[in-house]
Amino acid sequence: MTPSKKILVTGGAGYIGAHTVVELIAAGYEPVIVDNLSASDRTLLKGMERITGRKPNFHEGDCRDKSFLRDVFQTEGPIQCVMHFAAFKSVGESVQKPLLYHQNNIDSLLVLLDVMQEFKMTDFIFSSSCTVYGQPDVIPVNESAPFKRAESPYGATKQICERILEDIYPTGFRIVSLRYFNPIGAHPSAMMGELPIGVPNNLVPYITQTAAGLRKKLTVFGNDYDTPDGSCIRDFIHVVDLARVHVKALEYLQHERHSKLYDAFNVGTGKGVSVLELVNTFIRSTGVKLPFIIGPRRPGDVEKVYADPAKAMDALRWKTQYSLEDAMKHAWAWEQKLRASHSED
Ligand code: NAD
Ligand code: WQD
Repeated sequence: MTPSKKILVTGGAGYIGAHTVVELIAAGYEPVIVDNLSASDRTLLKGMERITGRKPNFHEGDCRDKSFLRDVFQTEGPIQCVMHFAAFKSVGESVQKPLLYHQNNIDSLLVLLDVMQEFKMTDFIFSSSCTVYGQPDVIPVNESAPFKRAESPYGATKQICERILEDIYPTGFRIVSLRYFNPIGAHPSAMMGELPIGVPNNLVPYITQTAAGLRKKLTVFGNDYDTPDGSCIRDFIHVVDLARVHVKALEYLQHERHSKLYDAFNVGTGKGVSVLELVNTFIRSTGVKLPFIIGPRRPGDVEKVYADPAKAMDALRWKTQYSLEDAMKHAWAWEQKLRASHSED
């Protein structure tokens, strides 16, 4: 019997999930999307249809709702693997609403695993985060670095979820956790990208909204760090490169014959880029003016972190293809497209 090509993508209407759906279709899979649209709308679902010419099955509902998930699994029939993106992701909001974050991010994982077990499904790919490391002692950080106490409830949910996955895999799961560094950019077609709700917290959407005139100026949070130009250093990875690693992780699970498996991989470029370097790359690669000032440090920010991605490159046979310039151009094209569609409304 040929294995099912169906991949369940929770959170598939969101930023990273939607880009992954496009890459799954390109690789010949049949993604099925589950999303409760609590942090998204149908914009990216429409975008992925335009890009691929396909309309993946979409089930609107909550991953914490067991009977809803049972219905999805029953309706869809055999599913090869579950990719679990659905979660709340705002670090700042998690400090204001810790219970909401723990409930949503942890309960959705637990309920999903429970239903998977009921349906005898084993293969699972989890959206983890570099936030599990905190400020690592050694940079570039590799997967064996210890988890420091999480800086935020959001970070704690990712640490707890990884612990749950480590605990349950011996009962018959095959699991890959992907620790994303800083995803940026948009689909090269400008039909999908990041859709922040309200004032963006993350750097790149703040940059593009400032360049588009929605925000007066960007504030660079601190230039007195112990880094070459004084601003923080991060590992910014193009969202399409990040999406493609999921296809590689799927192939890895197919080839690994172990009936029980847990493995975690860093997903970053391996290159540390400072906030000021990123700002200058945006200006240089788009030719757009970007008013910015230097402000105080943002509480809770890690000074510098970037990935050692050797494990993913080697075991998953994956490498990044897009440059920082590409990411800036694509993010800007997406922002312009959004502004144009809003002015038509
Ligand atoms: P996103 O907010 O764009 O997408 C998440 C999607 O999940 C949204 O469409 C939301 O409606 C949905 N969702 C949330 N809770 C749900 C629930 N209980 N049931 C069903 N749907 C639910 O976020 P993203 O940037 O695409 O992030 C995807 C995953 O990657 C998250 O787990 C996030 O924590 C993780 N991650 C993101 C980043 C980042 O910077 N974007 C970095 C590291 C890890
Ligand atoms: C990047 C750098 C800011 C905005 C977060 C989460 C992490 C992961 C990725 C989910 C920092 C600086 C920002 C601005 C600025 N997400 N900055 N002015 O904090 O590295 O990571 O997203 O798992 O868990 O913590 O990303 O984009 O917010 O900030 O100077 O207006 O840009 O100080 O140095 P961060 P970010």
